[in-house]
Amino acid sequence: MKAVVDPDRCQGHARCWEISPEVFGLDEEGHGQALTAEVPAEHAELARRAQRNCPERAIALV
Ligand code: F3S
Repeated sequence: MKAVVDPDRCQGHARCWEISPEVFGLDEEGHGQALTAEVPAEHAELARRAQRNCPERAIALV
């Protein structure tokens, strides 16, 4: 599974990073970005929670 943040939708709410810091970071402008090419299985549930909690629906898990 890969995590992808849509830069056009992300508004920098940072919930992804707060919920799943192993998978999501923030760039220099405070926008979310995936830290790993593949989401490790042990972090999948928190990555899904981060996806559900993004107010902009900017996160895709594919
Ligand atoms: Fe952006 Fe959503 Fe994270 S708006 S910083 S992807 S919680």
